[in-house]
Amino acid sequence: MAVPQNLVQLTSSKGLQANNAQPNGAPSNGLQPKRGVAPANGKPRAEFKSLELGRKEEFVLTGLEIGLSSNCNFRCDYCCAYNLNDKLFMTAERIIGILEDAPHLTRVKLSGGEVLIYYDECLEVVEYCTSRGLQTQINTNGSLLNEEKLERLEAAGLGCLHYSFNFTDRKEFAAYYKQPEKMFDRIEENIRISAKSEIDTVLESVIFKSTEFSLNDIHHHIHGLGVRKHEIQNGIPIAKNDWEEVLPQDRVEAVIERLIQNRHPDMTMYFSCVDVDPCGTFYPKVMSYLQSGQIHFPSCVEGRNQLHLHSNGDVLICELGHPKVIGSLVDGVRLNELLTNKPQELVDFLERRNTDKCSCTIRTLVQPQ
Ligand SMILES: C[S@@+](CC[C@H](N)C(=O)[O-])C[C@H]1O[C@@H](n2cnc3c(N)ncnc32)[C@H](O)[C@@H]1O
Ligand code: SF4
Ligand code: SF4
Repeated sequence: MAVPQNLVQLTSSKGLQANNAQPNGAPSNGLQPKRGVAPANGKPRAEFKSLELGRKEEFVLTGLEIGLSSNCNFRCDYCCAYNLNDKLFMTAERIIGILEDAPHLTRVKLSGGEVLIYYDECLEVVEYCTSRGLQTQINTNGSLLNEEKLERLEAAGLGCLHYSFNFTDRKEFAAYYKQPEKMFDRIEENIRISAKSEIDTVLESVIFKSTEFSLNDIHHHIHGLGVRKHEIQNGIPIAKNDWEEVLPQDRVEAVIERLIQNRHPDMTMYFSCVDVDPCGTFYPKVMSYLQSGQIHFPSCVEGRNQLHLHSNGDVLICELGHPKVIGSLVDGVRLNELLTNKPQELVDFLERRNTDKCSCTIRTLVQPQ
């Protein structure tokens, strides 16, 4: 099958280095770098979940998640990645070209797959984003990093490094992920290093059957690694396989209540994709949790302010809960126009949002204004 011009197959990225930024760091599109967040050392560091927790503009693409590649060195049975291991990746040059055509962006997330397989491409995209004042986040399993790579990401201005972390014990980790035990030690070491750096380090744990009664331990273990931000991601059913680990709503609520009751006072917590029915009994509890200022239930911004771009050019509403393709850049579709033109799949998603008929039925607490 012919590979579209903007794609490259799983080969070395050498020779594909491209940087549209000018030598002085200014972007080549003539835009002045803007500062979306308080800069650290003159660089735009990330405010984790800034879009989800901040004020929203209606249907303006301020966030883009880029599945730079869906190739991965792990095989998690919960994995929601679109077209996992399709052997494609998008070059930094191509990504930067796409970003130049998205003037309202304030945040770029690189996720996949394990995008750090393509470390040089990630670094180059981060450098470009920093030069343009865009916040950046990389989602990783943490296995392919080391001190030197972390230092270079820090120097490039990476805002947030988001690690998956679901086990506190090296044996349990190894058994679940079918990885050597020493991999767990390496990931923990990487986490310790990044927690001491200027990169905002966030650990994410998924609520599912395997973590239902260990999340409190995970939470305190994470604190011991020097991390102060813990995202608790509700497990999302995956249509493409028979993952049967998603908990019913009452058990999800019980997990959240236990976590909050036992929370470490230094930790900030983010409960993502939790269905909060405004007429239900959990709603007033959530309202009271918000009072602390350290417990957040971020809004869902997918399809309103954020889209997901896959390495083959497909644009999805949400890779996790609503992996519907609403256009392809290979067909000449432009990202910005997708939110304003609203293809039928997006209209359907928006109309059925917050009803129980949508494939992602999750009602997040604070809806975009
Ligand atoms: C697809 S992974 C890609 C980044 C990286 N490879 C990793 O695992 O962290 C992005 C995030 O999605 C989360 N995730 C994957 N499948 C999920 C599911 N079924 N439900 C909830 N979260 C899921 C992972 O925990 C991870 O934080
Ligand atoms: S490490 Fe991430 S991308 Fe890889 S299989 Fe696991 S969840 Fe999927
Ligand atoms: S669409 Fe659903 S799964 Fe995706 S971020 Fe929103 S609430 Fe979460």
